[in-house]
Parts: sequence; structure tokens; C-alpha cells
Amino acid sequence: MAKGVFITFEGVDGCGKTTQSKMLYRALPQSGARVFLTREPGGTDGANEIRRLVVTGKPGRWDPMTETLLMFAARRDHVERFIRPTIAAGKWVLSDRYVDSTVAYQGYGHGIPLPKIQQLHRLSTGNLYPSLTFIFDIDVEKALARTRVRGGSENRYEVMGLDFHKRLRKGFKEIAHENKERCVLIDADDKVENIHRKVISAINKRLGLKLKPVAVEGM
Ligand code: TYD
Repeated sequence: MAKGVFITFEGVDGCGKTTQSKMLYRALPQSGARVFLTREPGGTDGANEIRRLVVTGKPGRWDPMTETLLMFAARRDHVERFIRPTIAAGKWVLSDRYVDSTVAYQGYGHGIPLPKIQQLHRLSTGNLYPSLTFIFDIDVEKALARTRVRGGSENRYEVMGLDFHKRLRKGFKEIAHENKERCVLIDADDKVENIHRKVISAINKRLGLKLKPVAVEGM
């Protein structure tokens, strides 16, 4: 059986990656792929319990290293119980956030040294990286304005301040520049359908597919 493909979506809060991951999820079956859409922190029952601990409550609820370990505990459960077996069964996994978010948020945002994050990634996931990562780049003030409209209680990171979010944007851009064979940096200050077209054209080029864009639906 052909090995499945693992693709991730990354960027600052409010960058539009969730919308884009859902559109690619609808587009991919054209290629005959069996596709699953998941997210982090979360994706399994155990990881969803950890998610609640990190995305709700006061910004200073965790010290940065504890927060990093919680992210990796959630990720390990997700990788072991869902991502790895699903890919091994020849299916495709799209994940709304993965390890690049830890590098950006806990590394660039909270100052955890990047080699420590890489070490924890090796330890907890056996160094599993996606084949392809889309990084959506947008002005953080515009992106945060979108998250305010959305509301809800999962806003622990959204209230961490503008400087924190600017560091995240810089982090994501550096990740894209340093990992060009894996990452595609997409200008996300555009209409949903235009960004989707950029995603489709990148995936066709990188993975040799002939996907057509799908229409924006119920958003
Ligand atoms: P997410 O559900 O993607 O939020 P949004 O849709 O607003 O982008 O992610 C929840 C939050 O968790 C998000 O603010 C980023 C944060 N996060 C980290 O800080 N480190 C990580 O490793 C991951 C996966 C997420």
C-alpha cells in the first residue's frame, strides 16, 4: 500500500489556516486520496483534554517550559494514536497546526531555546515531520482583529499582546525560509478563494497532482 501523506497548516491566530485546511480537505478526494482533517493541540481524546488546559485561562497560567511539555504530551498522543497509524494505512492527514506552532509560540514567543524544542520533538514523536507545510503570513493586527470577532473562551494566546504576536509572525517566516523543501509561505492578506488557489497550485506542483480549486462554501 502507498504511504499516506502528512500536511500541516501553520500561522498566527486568525491567519485563515482553518478555513484553508477545510477547503483543501474538500479538494483532495479528487485525487482518490482518503483524507482526514485534524488539529493541534487536540486530535485525540487525551490530547483534547490537554488542549483545554493550554488554550483557556489566564496567560500566565503555565510557565513556558510546562506549557511546552503539555504541547508535546498532547502531540505524542496524537502522533502515536492517530497520525502515524493513519499515514501507515495509506491515508492522508491534514493537521491544523503541528510542531512549527511550538517553535513559533513557545520558542519565538516565550523564549524556549529552539534546540530544546527540537530535542523534545525527537523524543516525543521520533522526529516525525510533515511532507508539506503551508505557512499563512499576514499582518498580526489584521489577524487579531478577526479573532476578536470570533470570540469564545479559547483565547489564552490571543490576549498575549501585540509584541508576542509579532514575534510569532517573525518565527513562522524564519521557519519557512529555513525549511524551503518542506514549507510554502503564503501571503494570507487576500480573499479566501485566492488563497485557496495558491494552496492548490503549490500542492499540485509539489506533489505532482492535478487538483482543481473548490468553491467557498458556507463561510
Ligand atoms: P488553534 O486552535 O489553531 O487556534 P486558532 O484557530 O485561533 O489559530 O490553536 C490554539 C492555540 O494554541 C493557538 O493560539 C496557538 C497555540 N499553540 C501553541 O502555542 N503551541 C502549539 O504547539 C500549538 C499546536 C498551538
